[in-house]
Amino acid sequence: MNTIQSYINSHKDRFLNELIELLKIPSISADSAYKADVLKTAEAVKTSLEKAGCDSVELCTTEGHPIVYGEKIIDPNLPTVLVYGHYDVQPPDPLNLWDSPPFEPVIKKTDIHPDGAIFARGACDDKGQMYMHVKALEIMTNTNTLPCNVKFMIEGEEEVGSVNLSTYVKDNREKLKNDVILISDTGMIAPNVPSITTGLRGLSYVEVEVTGPNRDLHSGLYGGAVANPINILAKMIAQLHDENNHITIPGFYDQVQDLSEEERTEMTKAPFNLEDYKKSIGIPDIYGEKGYTTNERNSIRPTLDVNGIWGGYTSEGAKTVIASKAYAKISMRLVPDQDWHDITEKFTKYFESLAPSAVTVKVTPHHGGQAYVTPIDNIGYQAANKAYEDTFGTPALPQRGGGSIPIVSLFEQQLHSKTILMGFGLDSDAIHSPNEHYGIRNYFKGIETIPLFYKHFTALFNE
Ligand code: BES
Ligand code: MN
Ligand code: MN
Repeated sequence: MNTIQSYINSHKDRFLNELIELLKIPSISADSAYKADVLKTAEAVKTSLEKAGCDSVELCTTEGHPIVYGEKIIDPNLPTVLVYGHYDVQPPDPLNLWDSPPFEPVIKKTDIHPDGAIFARGACDDKGQMYMHVKALEIMTNTNTLPCNVKFMIEGEEEVGSVNLSTYVKDNREKLKNDVILISDTGMIAPNVPSITTGLRGLSYVEVEVTGPNRDLHSGLYGGAVANPINILAKMIAQLHDENNHITIPGFYDQVQDLSEEERTEMTKAPFNLEDYKKSIGIPDIYGEKGYTTNERNSIRPTLDVNGIWGGYTSEGAKTVIASKAYAKISMRLVPDQDWHDITEKFTKYFESLAPSAVTVKVTPHHGGQAYVTPIDNIGYQAANKAYEDTFGTPALPQRGGGSIPIVSLFEQQLHSKTILMGFGLDSDAIHSPNEHYGIRNYFKGIETIPLFYKHFTALFNE
């Protein structure tokens, strides 16, 4: 057993209990009722970084939730790793679908996590994965093996678009200077198949409102003679995809980078079983854009999805009514080189054009972000790959991710450094869903792998 492993072994229970304590605080960034809890979480993260060996840690106030910044500079001539993560979580609802309360963590065994997993909101996204980095720093500090400088920037608004972090990054470029950015906020392919996420999708998120008559109407007295906003909205949404499931917005695909046949063949090497996939989410069949595989559809292709739709009467029983208004929240996942401002504009124009003259339409943009791809011919990627090889006995597979971390493309633009996405979550960990969980083995594997990244990165940097 090496130094890292024996340190982990003798502090296993504490490492687990500390994470459990952090998971008990409901740091829901989207809901202002939880502002005090979000702050409490930030303070807990600050204390944990101080204990792990950071020389200075501060809570940076923003117009929203605070950013925790800490650093340990051992020698200005050595390289610097900047760790990013987030301590905020998604709202836990619908609460009735949780088997145990979201902020009362419990450990349970599952088929894919035979050693047990911690069930709680934020267990995987991202408290559990972020905290691996804090524990990795503790190990390196206490075993005198930290080979380089480290900066930590842990925010509390990732789940609501990182707007204030963008300002912070732009205003603190000198302070945040680094040689590589390290993030654990993505997933791996399978429990024994480590992977490095080489791409994230961008995002454009909009809300639409269709208005018909100036009040709700009796559907017998008026039905058939006036436009029903819900019928119209459904029709407009249906027109956003064609029969091949291509998105119909004019110019939507203009900037989309197509992958070479070689790259597409490379992607097929990732293990994937269609039957297991269908079974895992209970679908009778797959569905999506013609001409692409499931793995391509959820990573290298852009999408358009309705996230919520409402209007009219939805309570018990029946009410005969034509609603005055209908609403939907729509997200588009984007790929390089689509620009989210441009896509939002194209969507708005097209959506408005789909409306018959009998209704009015309002499109309100929410947040967005650019997609990101990282090349694999850099020392950051190589260091991560070597670290995985040490702990999993197999090199990592590069994998384009389907989710978004909008701040990553801003890091590249403002700080001019590459981001390495070393994720340890599994797709089945139910992030953003009821019963989110994080494998205990994944947690400890992460803690073990991270110090090795530092070691290999510093060695490659000095070569
Ligand atoms: N950690 C996720 C993103 C993620 C998860 C990327 C798994 C790749 C694999 C992050 O916290 C997240 O949920 N991002 C949001 C975007 C944000 C602007 C709300 C998303 O992807 O929906
Ligand atoms: Mn996350
Ligand atoms: Mn998330």
